Amino acid sequence: MRLTRRELVRSALGASLAAALPAGFFSACSGSSKAAGAVSSAFGASGAVRQAPLSSEIAFPRNFFWGTATAAYQIEGAWKEDGKGESIWDRFSHAPGTIKNGDTGDAACDSYHRWRDDIAMMRAMNLNSYRFSLSWPRIQPSGTGSANSNGIDYYSRLVDALLDAKIRPFVTLYHWDLPQALEDAGGWPNRDTASRFSDYVEVVARALGDRVTDWMLFNEPSVFTFSGYLEGVHAPGHQSLLDFLRATHVVNLAQGAGFRALKAARPQARVGTAFNMSACEPATDSEADKLAAERAHAITNVWFLEPALQGRYPAAFTYLPETVMRIASGDMEKVRAPLDFIGINLYNRTIASSPSTLKRIAHVQDWLFPVTMTSSGGEQGPKTDIGWEVWPQALYNMVTRITRDYNRPVIEITESGCAYNDGPDASGEIRDTRRTEYHRHYLAALAHAIADGADVRSYHAWSLLDNFEWAEGFSQRFGLAYMDFKTQQRTIKDSGRWYAKVAAENLLRMGPL
Ligand code: FCB
Repeated sequence: MRLTRRELVRSALGASLAAALPAGFFSACSGSSKAAGAVSSAFGASGAVRQAPLSSEIAFPRNFFWGTATAAYQIEGAWKEDGKGESIWDRFSHAPGTIKNGDTGDAACDSYHRWRDDIAMMRAMNLNSYRFSLSWPRIQPSGTGSANSNGIDYYSRLVDALLDAKIRPFVTLYHWDLPQALEDAGGWPNRDTASRFSDYVEVVARALGDRVTDWMLFNEPSVFTFSGYLEGVHAPGHQSLLDFLRATHVVNLAQGAGFRALKAARPQARVGTAFNMSACEPATDSEADKLAAERAHAITNVWFLEPALQGRYPAAFTYLPETVMRIASGDMEKVRAPLDFIGINLYNRTIASSPSTLKRIAHVQDWLFPVTMTSSGGEQGPKTDIGWEVWPQALYNMVTRITRDYNRPVIEITESGCAYNDGPDASGEIRDTRRTEYHRHYLAALAHAIADGADVRSYHAWSLLDNFEWAEGFSQRFGLAYMDFKTQQRTIKDSGRWYAKVAAENLLRMGPL
């Protein structure tokens, strides 16, 4: 979760697990359940087992959606304009020492005012889908009650302009910016937040659901619960195992309630969630490492999917009583949400291994969650500037596994991308060849998954433009367009021009660039 981005380390999860558990807990046992290196080396034999021959052309399915993704806090700015309430990210980023270089999203890319420029760029890139998120506190400043009409108007204008441009508005309802007032009332560990979320969903569905048909309830629930409530590196910055576990359950309840609220208001809506996923590979062929990889898969990939589709938690822990998670009777029906599609955000893979028997006996955390996971992928592929391994095969593996395990669901690739900090050269061009190669090879892997039977409808590059990368501030650039944060000027990079061609032709060319 950013288990896979920042070490899910036994010490983070396990140590606090041990500390947090009630006395007598262990008496029973049951499951409830940037590098500038040569790009070509990224895609060597082991990295892209099913890679197309480099000269081939790969056609994508008819009506495939080519898009980019962003999130409100990362691009909008205007953090207290037009009646917007404070979010947990406003509060968190203003606290000293939380964000690299003291950056904040106060202004970010100023998309609250410059959204027309954003749409113009998407048109120039021939895109037909735009995944963006709504800022909950722009719509309900303190998380409850009637809507702030300025906030609704902003999104309404954006949606209308996208439709005029023949770009599908693909809307995320929650991309991490909880109204601070709800955090003050207990945040995601508080059951009441699930009801607040479904009320918010209803308000939005009424206001925008006549024009928006495709929705994601959440972005990466395992990341915002883990990084926000256990690791403390994201808002709201808590470090509590119990808060984390309870938050995951409340988010699952909110997913079920939000799904029903949206369908009740707009029966035709297509509703999913954008899950962060990472193909979990055992470090060796040993049975113990294979089991560890399955536990890693359970917590990283399907902790919020299994409850939705099957009404149960996967077996990640050796022991986790329902009372610890505050699962009430009837809850496992409430968490169900028969999602219309599964959104997958995928950047890299995870390598999992099992701690030795000695360690498992010596440390309670290694017994409860006997998994050591590498962060940021493996060590064979090159690393992007943020340190994540480039490994296209992970996308193939993940998409085909979800296809197998969940009876060939509809899949949308809601995010994939890479941080490379290339800036303008003397002529003002941004020659980010490594980004082009990243997307090209991840798309080739996706095309193979489609050829092997996966029902994939879209690909959204993260991101349209360089933006506020959470705890990394503005230090990591993921955009297909370059941002000059001083002037707010946007410039399409070489990768954006290349992507425009792919989208226009609905075809991936694997020959020389
Ligand atoms: C994902 C987030 C997105 C962005 C990318 C780089 O985990 O959903 O907001 O930070 O990573």
